[in-house]
Amino acid sequence: MASILPVGIAGTGHYLPERVVPNSWFESFLDTSDEWIVQRTGIRERRYAADDETTSDLAVKASLAACEAASIEPKDLDAIILGTLTPDFQLPSTAVRVQDKLGATNAMAFDVASACTGFVNAVQVGEALIAAGRAKRVLTIGVEILSRYLDYENRGSCILFGDGAGAAVLTPHADCGQGELLKHTMGAKGSDYALIQIPGGGTVRPPSVEMLAAREQYIQLDGRGVYRFAVSKMSQLIGDMLEGIDHDELSLVVPHQVNRRIIDAALERINLDPSKVMINIDRYANTSAATVPIALDEAVRQGRIEKGKYVVLVAFGAGVTWGASLLRW
Ligand code: UT7
Repeated sequence: MASILPVGIAGTGHYLPERVVPNSWFESFLDTSDEWIVQRTGIRERRYAADDETTSDLAVKASLAACEAASIEPKDLDAIILGTLTPDFQLPSTAVRVQDKLGATNAMAFDVASACTGFVNAVQVGEALIAAGRAKRVLTIGVEILSRYLDYENRGSCILFGDGAGAAVLTPHADCGQGELLKHTMGAKGSDYALIQIPGGGTVRPPSVEMLAAREQYIQLDGRGVYRFAVSKMSQLIGDMLEGIDHDELSLVVPHQVNRRIIDAALERINLDPSKVMINIDRYANTSAATVPIALDEAVRQGRIEKGKYVVLVAFGAGVTWGASLLRW
């Protein structure tokens, strides 16, 4: 449903840490191979943050690029909405750290905790704030330092993830004239919460020697379970967003970079030409909340998005949660 006040994406940005970690690095301490990882996931390498980089540091670099692209100053922001599952601290939010580091003193700031869906949810909340007249310039961010939450003894999960940040500034469409948000969907199915989780460190399993010994401070996932959910949810969401739209009018689908095979299987189900889909999982792996804004900004900067045509953002993740948006660029 179109919002009361049409909202657009005024500018995007991303930041990736310098350290490149190829698949071969895992071969030195795990029973795995570059061949297995490439075949089963499409990942060739990922980026890891430096020891002295924090989640908010990555977010700030992506945000400055997005603000510059949108031609606005951080002090002009009314809100900062940040999606992450790897915050600077348990408390307070990473969004307030970004607010402080940017000098965005006029912005409200809060995190959304919906894992890989975080950025897409942030965009939908930001759009609603602007459409309702509660804000005019909203900075939305997806950022992760997953390398600090991986169990490097678990070959089924640690090879999948990387670090990075992406951001987008939302304003009334009349002010920016691009990236008009046309329709959205988002949802959750909490009964599947155990498919992907960090079981330790919260109120169920507070920090303790036993919790750490059981390695419950790290991400655990049911890869096969996520695989089945992801193929069906991604194809359904893209199909819903493109209902009534001729594929010739579609410029690009920007999906969560979960696994190349999952993306390919979803596209096959809905008969969508793979050349209309942004893929960078080979270089950055799965950066959770950051995959969609990084891929969107790369697509924008590479000139892959045609003016006047449609763009679909789609993500899903732990919770399980999901969200998608249709835009006209
Ligand atoms: O954004 C959401 C978070 N992402 C996810 O939750 C990931 C979604 N799932 C996936 O991407 C895929 O399920 C994986 C890449 C995790 C696994 O691929 P799969 O084709 O589903 O493999 P599988 O889990 O069925 O495992 C097949 C075999 C197993 O060995 P056995 O039991 O057949 O002997 C695994 O132990 O592959 C083994 N395996 C590995 N072998 C080499 C699992 N990880 C590795 C590895 N290297 N890194």
